[in-house]
Amino acid sequence: MASYGYFDDQHREYVITDPKTPVKWINYVGTLAFGGLVDHTGGALICKGDPALNRIVKYIPQLPSSEFKGETLYLRLATSDRYRVFSPYFVPTLDHYDRYECHVGLGYTHIVSEFYGIRTDVTIFVPLDDNRVIRDYKFTNLGSQPVEMDAIPVVEYTHPDALKQFTNADWVPQTMQSRVHNGRNGLKILTQYAFLRRDIAVNYFTSNLPASSFETDRARFLGDHEYGTWANPQALMATELSNYEAHRGDNIAALLHHLGVIQPGETRRLITQLGQEASVEVALPSIGRYRDGREVDTAFANLARFWDGYLSTLQVDTPDANMNRMLNVYNPRQCHVTQNWSRYLSLYQLGFGARGIGFRDTAQDVMGVIAHAPAEARTLIEMLLSVQRRNGSAFHQLNPLTMIANAGDSREVEGGPDYYGDDHLWIVLAIVAYLEETGDLAFLEKVVPYYEKDRSEHPMEAGTVLDHMRRAIDFTTTNVGAHGLPLLGFADWNDTVNLRAGAESLFVAHLYGKALLEMIHLAQHTGDAAMADRYASYYEVMRARVNDQAWDGEWYLRYFDADGSPLGSKVNKYGQIYVNGQSWPVIAGFAPPDRARQALDSVKHKLGTRNGIKLSMPGFDGWDPSRGGITTYPPGAKENGGIFLHANPWVIIAEATLGNGDRAFEYYNQINPVAKNDQIDDFECEPYVYPQNVLGDEHPQFGLARNSWLTGTASWAYQAATQYILGIAPTHNGLHIDPCIPCSWDGFSVVRRFRGAVYQIEVNNPNHVSRGVTSVTVDGQPNEGNLVPVLDGTKVHEVEVLLG
Ligand code: NOJ
Repeated sequence: MASYGYFDDQHREYVITDPKTPVKWINYVGTLAFGGLVDHTGGALICKGDPALNRIVKYIPQLPSSEFKGETLYLRLATSDRYRVFSPYFVPTLDHYDRYECHVGLGYTHIVSEFYGIRTDVTIFVPLDDNRVIRDYKFTNLGSQPVEMDAIPVVEYTHPDALKQFTNADWVPQTMQSRVHNGRNGLKILTQYAFLRRDIAVNYFTSNLPASSFETDRARFLGDHEYGTWANPQALMATELSNYEAHRGDNIAALLHHLGVIQPGETRRLITQLGQEASVEVALPSIGRYRDGREVDTAFANLARFWDGYLSTLQVDTPDANMNRMLNVYNPRQCHVTQNWSRYLSLYQLGFGARGIGFRDTAQDVMGVIAHAPAEARTLIEMLLSVQRRNGSAFHQLNPLTMIANAGDSREVEGGPDYYGDDHLWIVLAIVAYLEETGDLAFLEKVVPYYEKDRSEHPMEAGTVLDHMRRAIDFTTTNVGAHGLPLLGFADWNDTVNLRAGAESLFVAHLYGKALLEMIHLAQHTGDAAMADRYASYYEVMRARVNDQAWDGEWYLRYFDADGSPLGSKVNKYGQIYVNGQSWPVIAGFAPPDRARQALDSVKHKLGTRNGIKLSMPGFDGWDPSRGGITTYPPGAKENGGIFLHANPWVIIAEATLGNGDRAFEYYNQINPVAKNDQIDDFECEPYVYPQNVLGDEHPQFGLARNSWLTGTASWAYQAATQYILGIAPTHNGLHIDPCIPCSWDGFSVVRRFRGAVYQIEVNNPNHVSRGVTSVTVDGQPNEGNLVPVLDGTKVHEVEVLLG
């Protein structure tokens, strides 16, 4: 099967060598504050602060891959009687190339291509904490003759209200404006804005070299009333562009640079900047700075330094090269991206309208970054707590710019529950994970407002972080149905099973159990015996309810409908078994050992496939409003029996909890995207990040991945691998070391930064067991048990672990 590239471990890059990947493969530059995605043929979708309300570049993912999307650059070679025009990005001119490499790096994309004897080498990135995308081009004449060449970079803008761009084709074009600003030393800045934002937010596009002419109107650039195309823009047949400042229409920014005659072997550097500031005057000083290539080099080096630091928190060396790649580079990177962008902006999650970021999504994403970026994690946790209701439940989504929260899809069902049964419980897990990583118990006392506001928009009530956690628990304790199990609300983690009001969720019961366990441990740690006792009694009550009512014989049920009938039972025609119904009673500690084993064996036999574990089976076969969104998918797709990757690490955690290292690792491998590198014609998505979903074996296209990048799989796969398979878990009192690995492994090593100290952990497995720490030494001294305490933060500590 074809491969489209390879992993360059030394440079921590994935190198795409064939631009005709089955779907566009992307990378992220910058952050939600300023940045976006860059595809492997140079197209880009950039926004500032909010993809819905402050989008800068128009990028339409649904257009065919060959189409221009957002940004490109044309090169123009003067021949004796005409120009040869081509794009070194391959798209949109699709010329024959001699070499094409897209290096997907940490916060940058570096494309090297060779067309018609010209090598283009471009690095695309956003400097740290900056509001511009830089494209740093180097053009080299590889031939034996001098060439005369022009370079014309082009960006297409969108209206900042990204949805309006597509829903109002009268107002939008009437408001779009472009102007030119000529400065000293050949500086030409093209500015662009929607009229109502003229005085507050101006996009700009500029370069380091003198541009002899420009274009801001798409129709003029393409020519012939737009019967000219992006593949062959007619404006590029003339010596100069028209220097037109658009007063309406589809705005672009194109700058024509005559690079002059380039001798054989000679290289020219062009640096473009695309950014947004309050005005061109505000932007001028920094634009001037980045016209200097040395400043660009420094900014790029700073980006590399950031990633060195970020990744140094945890580095592993295991016998499995694919696992090493994921854990050392790509998985923590993906966690950083998901934490930043939530489910807001990708080729699949288009960032229009009022969606914002998801409460449960971000709560889980935070858990994937806490070790690397605890301060950011704390800020995000506080942000989420501020959209918790006074009754302890949470709003499903929030816009991070406006901080306006909403109840998600539950709004579509009039009179139904306006909350999701699980949202508020995830934040308990995230807070405890933060405390375990940092020891920052003072955070529990921080006062954060609840969401409800009075008439003057002031929060009506505030509470400490601990109070927020307690209310979250109490909401589920009190909102139970006929079986004493938590009410589903509009949905639980599985957004697509939407039952009538009164339905109960076993998943929420288990998540509540896990949250209670965390609260009990926390209370024990802080010495609050009353709280520990209270939650221990809640825990026992729910454990009994689950085991008395939800065991189906070979596995656990998943829901009770409002009329008391079960879902996820052998009596059902569709959806007889759900994976989360089995992994979570183990994670929560609810399942007694025999049931735990049997439930996970049922997962293996009923839901296991070579491409990962399916969410449920059999898939519903037809729309059924009494079940909701799940029945909108054909069997095998997404939540309807698809391999929804997010749920796989929970099975890995459950198997590791039971000590089954071989199976935990088998599941880990099945979904490791790195292992798909030579199966891309089936898988189709990027082999360097987890996708959200893979079609299941009930679907004719079994194995096909979609919705790459923004998925909770990133955080949970990272937690499952590092804390459960490798078994290095932060706790309130130190690092708990309890690996659960394949028996065949001789051992592995991990370098982990924890509370300021560096732990160099060497695990040896001479007897080839899966689990069982027999001794631990720290700096050569025996350590009692397998909890390595918090150590002196100024030193590197050697930790030797023996399994047996
Ligand atoms: C994707 C959503 O972002 C996430 O919140 C949800 O848990 C899964 N879909 C499963 O429905």
